Amino acid sequence: MTRPSRRTFLTGTASLFGAAILPRAVFAETGLPVLRASTSTAQLAPDGYPATPVWSYDTGDAGTVPGPEIRVTAGERVQYRLVNDLPQPTAVHWHGIRIENAMDGAAPLTQAPVPPGEGFDYDFVTPDPGTYWYHSHNRSTEQVARGLAGPLIVEDREPWLGEPGAATREVTLVLDDWLLEADATIVEDRWDDLHAAAHGGRMGNTVTVNGKAYPNLEIRPGERVRLRLINTATARIMPLVLQGLAPHLIALDGHPVQPRAIETVLLGPAQRADVVIDAPTDPDAQTALLLDPGNGELVEIASFAVAGDAFTKVHADVRALPAWGTLPAPDLTDPQRETLLMEGGAMRGMLETQYQGKVMDFRELSSNGMVWAFNGVANGMDAPMFRTSLGRTVHMEMTNRSMFPHAIHLHGHHFEVLARSGASNTSGDIRDTVMIGADETLEIAFVADNPGVWMLHCHMLSHQASGMMGWFEVA
Ligand code: C2O
Ligand code: CU
Repeated sequence: MTRPSRRTFLTGTASLFGAAILPRAVFAETGLPVLRASTSTAQLAPDGYPATPVWSYDTGDAGTVPGPEIRVTAGERVQYRLVNDLPQPTAVHWHGIRIENAMDGAAPLTQAPVPPGEGFDYDFVTPDPGTYWYHSHNRSTEQVARGLAGPLIVEDREPWLGEPGAATREVTLVLDDWLLEADATIVEDRWDDLHAAAHGGRMGNTVTVNGKAYPNLEIRPGERVRLRLINTATARIMPLVLQGLAPHLIALDGHPVQPRAIETVLLGPAQRADVVIDAPTDPDAQTALLLDPGNGELVEIASFAVAGDAFTKVHADVRALPAWGTLPAPDLTDPQRETLLMEGGAMRGMLETQYQGKVMDFRELSSNGMVWAFNGVANGMDAPMFRTSLGRTVHMEMTNRSMFPHAIHLHGHHFEVLARSGASNTSGDIRDTVMIGADETLEIAFVADNPGVWMLHCHMLSHQASGMMGWFEVA
């Protein structure tokens, strides 16, 4: 296909007609299916409460939270014209996809945010199978908290469902956390709450599964099901327990792992886990999806009702997902060494930090809305944290010198977790977002095989907005 890419079209046309009329001209030219961002309502709180006004995505029907599931097979294209019917500029980021840079949606680095009433054409290949999601990447502390997030599922090239030891069916579970008032409206006036930002972020009070509080999920006796779990919360870390369901982990952030039995699925903000569960054969067995909020008491966030005809119990070991075969292995003989030092937050703060080219103390930083820094710079968007050449292996040592955990996300790449606090990580997990605890160090490595400018930030969105972001360049 030789249809001009959006960029060629832009350079070819912008000078002739000017920017003002360009978006509509592009629409007429390409005619992609529409992904609309607009306002709507959703029944987030349990029945009996009013519906919640939200910001949501739709592809033709009414907007929903989470947004409509986008599903393609690995190697296929995702093509949507984002139409912005919100009262604010917006952009869509396709989280975890090793995407072409111009399509990354990382406003303002890779594109200008799309003003209300205008649009942007996203058109990209999904190289790797797995569980991903899409979300707003402009004023995301507010826009994601208002509901602008949805699942993006990239199916395996080879069949897995139905094969021996695999599941017979799969279910996507989008987990979210909302800060709601007593009348179920979203708390409006605390998007940039600096106190929350200096702690664990803007934490919610209502956890939903696929946009519902305490949904009831059905599972047949003895059935093996693949769950695609996605944490779209802006701040909440979700330690999950699949009670009575014998969970086996099969993928992290979309990338397959050797199937392993697990007790708790730890999902930081933006992280995904694919888990195979086996329903008990006894319909009266205790089964549920539980969240550990950290105070010692597990909370049920969804129930699993074991009902219907029994499956012949699968005895085979859990089947591994097909390997990606697309990700180059890091060459650790002579990598480019980079460090990422995280500082700030309540109780520790930071000394001498640069913000907008000026060195400030913690008090002056806070008065500018900044309470976090990467490598001594708060919100370092003016210059790259580092540059590397295409194909080079980057080894990064991350140190968290704060009192809070962080969820560090790299755009455009997946990385191998080599070691955690000195101990080498033998599981060799490949991730796009990694949790790092207080005073922990982490070593990761990846091949910088994707040219462009890529953001690197904490996915606790209040942390990102108050300093924990930067970018690197691959050229
Ligand atoms: Cu999921 Cu920079 O984002
Ligand atoms: Cu953080």
